[in-house]
Amino acid sequence: MKFTPLILGASLVASMVACPGQDAAMKDLKSKLKARQEAPGPNDSDEMVGDLATIGGVTTVGKAVQDILTGAADPYTDEPWKGSLPAKTSALCARDTCCIWKWIAKDMEAKFKGSAGRCNRFARAAVRLGFHDAGTWSKTTGFGGADGSLILANEGNRPENNGLQEISKVTLGWYNSYKKYGVGMADLIQMGANVATVVCPLGPRVRTFVGRKDSNVPNADNLLPSVFADAESLIKLFEDKTIKAHGLAALVGAHTTSQQHFVDPKRKFDPQDSTPGVWDVKFYGQTTGSAPKRVFKFPSDVALAAHPKIADEWADFAGAGGQEHWDEDYAKEYIRLSLLGVNNINNLTECTRVLPPAKKTFNQPDLTIFQQWLEGKYNSLGQQIEDGNLITSTLLKLLGLLSGRMFEGEGAEAEVVA
Ligand code: HEM
Ligand SMILES: *[C@@H]1O[C@H](CO)[C@@H](O)[C@H](O)[C@H]1NC(C)=O
Ligand SMILES: *[C@@H]1O[C@H](CO)[C@@H](O)[C@H](O)[C@H]1NC(C)=O
Repeated sequence: MKFTPLILGASLVASMVACPGQDAAMKDLKSKLKARQEAPGPNDSDEMVGDLATIGGVTTVGKAVQDILTGAADPYTDEPWKGSLPAKTSALCARDTCCIWKWIAKDMEAKFKGSAGRCNRFARAAVRLGFHDAGTWSKTTGFGGADGSLILANEGNRPENNGLQEISKVTLGWYNSYKKYGVGMADLIQMGANVATVVCPLGPRVRTFVGRKDSNVPNADNLLPSVFADAESLIKLFEDKTIKAHGLAALVGAHTTSQQHFVDPKRKFDPQDSTPGVWDVKFYGQTTGSAPKRVFKFPSDVALAAHPKIADEWADFAGAGGQEHWDEDYAKEYIRLSLLGVNNINNLTECTRVLPPAKKTFNQPDLTIFQQWLEGKYNSLGQQIEDGNLITSTLLKLLGLLSGRMFEGEGAEAEVVA
């Protein structure tokens, strides 16, 4: 999508309400809206999905989603939870659909955040789970999608879902605790993806909707991408899900947080950019340019980055102002993805206010050791980094990666103070 980098983020909307006299801010907001409303290019997703494609947006929520998908409305917001949080079992909580989701989002946040402030392996797997549940829908088959079937119909046994076993178990646990409040699996999976995204530092607070219908019918096979596929066929695969080349370019940016396990098992835990657990744009620049030794580039990402429908957009995400451009495009495209196969969009409820606040800045508190790991030292740290743990010299000693003498002699303690 075309984007004006000078404009301010979603936070602007909130601050403008507080200070109505800010003409400059208002002008910026208008230019942002104008940039969004420009006709999408040939590589931007613009198709409607679900009931929006047949009857259009006929409710407030339906219209909101339609505006998000056409670029006329913000796909991520700072809208906070207001007031107190009623007890789960209270009548007051039952009266607000989002109340129980606030409780769920709190459980998810606790599970997804590591002690270093980075998001952990549960968070990343939750984002991938959201993709793999929804991504089984296509225009050609016309069925499946974000329906909870990955867990409810045991799609987890399929090879493409390898690595999602642990998060599926955790999600099933949440389902068993919360289904008595009317919570469904499809929504739980998509809520998990959105909580996870914003728990990762710099991640957008993607607008979040609930009310999807669950299904225990296995979705069609072979609709998820292979890491070894060429760019042309990957673009076709996603176009059949209404996601065009630029949308795909934005979505694969989720690999910014990732550490692979199965593409090359000998390099288990190697990250896809230098900052796993952080939702930054380093992934884009490092996929096309130079990266530390330990960074493992997926062949699919390298291929997509070089494709003529994607190369410009990819470079834009990697360049100045890229973070905000990407956050916006990712949020918009993830909302599309999370609604594939959902045919009651007009009847959904927006619960964005249950998400934790976005973390808009982040400094790695353990940069020195982290960089040594990236250059190939401390192989067994991969697991700790997956867990989002703060890496200290004490931890290195504990893992036998640093002897007491080396520790004192090298003054490592001083080096790693946060
Ligand atoms: C061309 C499309 C894509 C391909 C070929 C692809 C492939 C992969 C592969 C092979 C892994 C590593 C699995 C492992 O070894 O542990 C992975 C991880 C991941 N992918 Fe993708 N992916 C694609 C698109 C996406 C999209 C659209 C999203 C989300 C919106 C996504 C989110 C993730 C995340 C968060 C991880 C890390 C999972 C973890 O750490 O457990 N990917 N992807
Ligand atoms: C869109 O795709 C076409 C190829 O179909 C390519 O020539 C063009 O540069 C792309 N535009 C952008 C802005 O990426
Ligand atoms: C939406 O809700 C209305 C009122 O409850 C109902 O009549 C309609 O069938 C629902 N539409 C869909 C697509 O679920």
